Amino acid sequence: MGKITIAIDGYSSTGKSTIAKRLAASLQYIYVDTGAMYRAVTLYALNQGLITEAGEVKQADLIAQLSEVKLKFVPNRETGRSDMFLNNVNVEQEIRKMRVSGFVSQIAAIKEVREKLVKMQQEMGKDKGVVMDGRDIGTVVFPNAELKLFMTASPETRATRRYKELLVKGEEVTYAEVLKNVEDRDRIDSTRSISPLTKAKDAIEFDNSDMGLEEQFDRIYSYAQRVI
Ligand code: C5P
Repeated sequence: MGKITIAIDGYSSTGKSTIAKRLAASLQYIYVDTGAMYRAVTLYALNQGLITEAGEVKQADLIAQLSEVKLKFVPNRETGRSDMFLNNVNVEQEIRKMRVSGFVSQIAAIKEVREKLVKMQQEMGKDKGVVMDGRDIGTVVFPNAELKLFMTASPETRATRRYKELLVKGEEVTYAEVLKNVEDRDRIDSTRSISPLTKAKDAIEFDNSDMGLEEQFDRIYSYAQRVI
């Protein structure tokens, strides 16, 4: 069949990006982490003072400034992956912090933000040969993707994974804070009016609560081989 589009959606911290990166590397496809794009817009809003101390987003101001938000993925030779650049600054580390995680779902619920990012994502994947992960890839960005996966795992499993990742990065955070953030984001992402997180009808649901990385990868790789 040649190159296809692979859409990987699902809840927060289900290990989508780990699988997606590995799959893309094995197939020599492009990998696009769409969450990084929503995170970068959130960082922009924080840096510009567009989120008040009380946690309110100055939505109209953000929308007015959206054309000034320039996002770019730049390959990093050391890690072999791509780093997110916001207005020519490498923000790859910054966007993963809890400060950004705490507001990203509010920012991602804004229609104009989604329109801008979805358009960029469609452009990046227009030639196929892409593995894209996010929340609305199989439903909105590439509804005709040849392979769609919907990843799930229990909130506790996901929070534990995320907590460990953050500790390794030296972030001071408690497990309870991480669990609350994972649950809050799931709720906001699944109930927003525009492009809510939902399983596409033709997506394969994949619960990886009790599955190691190797097993997950082998299964998903074989799904891909069947379609390619
Ligand atoms: O994938 P990650 O957890 O980094 O995504 C961060 C947030 O970005 C999600 O919780 C969600 O609010 C938003 N997002 C989205 N649509 C996507 C990807 C991410 O709304 N396609």
